[in-house]
Amino acid sequence: MSLSSKITIVEVGPRDGFQMEREFIPTETKIEIINKLIQTGLRNFEVTSFVSPMAIPQLRDAAEVVARVNRVPGLCLAALVPNPKGAENAAKAGIDEMVVFVSATESHNKSNVNRKIAESLKGFESVAEIGAKAGIPLHGAVAVAFGCPFEGNVAPEQVGNIVERMRALGITGVTLGDTTGMATPPTVRQTTRYLKDRFPEIELALHFHNTRGIGLVNVYEALQLGYQRFESSIGGLGGCPFAPGATGNVATEDLVYLIKELGLDCGVDLEKLIDSAKLVEQAIGRTLPGQVMKAGPRLRPYPRQNHTAA
Ligand code: COA
Ligand code: ZN
Repeated sequence: MSLSSKITIVEVGPRDGFQMEREFIPTETKIEIINKLIQTGLRNFEVTSFVSPMAIPQLRDAAEVVARVNRVPGLCLAALVPNPKGAENAAKAGIDEMVVFVSATESHNKSNVNRKIAESLKGFESVAEIGAKAGIPLHGAVAVAFGCPFEGNVAPEQVGNIVERMRALGITGVTLGDTTGMATPPTVRQTTRYLKDRFPEIELALHFHNTRGIGLVNVYEALQLGYQRFESSIGGLGGCPFAPGATGNVATEDLVYLIKELGLDCGVDLEKLIDSAKLVEQAIGRTLPGQVMKAGPRLRPYPRQNHTAA
């Protein structure tokens, strides 16, 4: 076990979560939620996507959201960018980091961005040029890195071949996305070990979904392997609109609870985070899957009542 004490959490709810909601969340509400999340101590956000408004209508207000977020010191606002047009718009909006993304399998990439993997990778070159000119770094993301709803198991080599192309563009950080919650502790171990051997200089971030109830088990496995960067969404919002059955990122407040109980530090206030999750629940009008937002931290005192529970 080699647990590192300082953990970075990237809050992806405003992108991965909001994109899934049926009703358009008013821009004002999005900004209120993001600003409240900043007050919890979170500093890294995937704040929106500069994608086609036809593909993801929920995020059509990307530029306005970026413009109106409360820019405290140390804040890093990242946004998903699928193509050069998105990169131009993201640069104009003043984003801090552009996230280029591609799926590990052809069929998922096709249903997500209507392109072959090779076409997506080729497009990253122009995105990288735009980023370099604007002085904005790129981050890479590989979707369905631990399994694909259409093609099943994903070999670590498949992910590795994509990471190699990303590295050639100067990318130093790559997120492995478990888009439909197919990761398991052995696949987490196998894929990260393979990538670490092949690309020791690349920092890996882990993005797990709780689709099958073991999101935090996978986090725990990755923590034990020494990984320090995790993506999660407030209340467990989210999924991927093009992947059948993809519900629920790991909830940020559940992740923070685990991190704190392990004696690790992520600089986030759990009580404030729980309040934020409740605000999000109100804003979207349905119950969120997060669990610690319901029960509270384990040492929260409850009034004693005269009944017995089963
Ligand atoms: N921002 C805004 N508009 C964009 C855009 C972008 N980044 N990229 C394309 N468009 C517009 C084009 O201008 C064009 O509009 P027009 O018909 O009015 O001229 C239209 O979208 C179609 O463009 P095209 O290049 O043919 O794209 P496409 O239809 O093949 O769609 C993507 C490809 C990548 C743009 C689109 O599928 C997309 O944005 N997907 C996002 C997927 C995503 O975010 N998934 C979540 C991750 S799990
Ligand atoms: Zn996700």
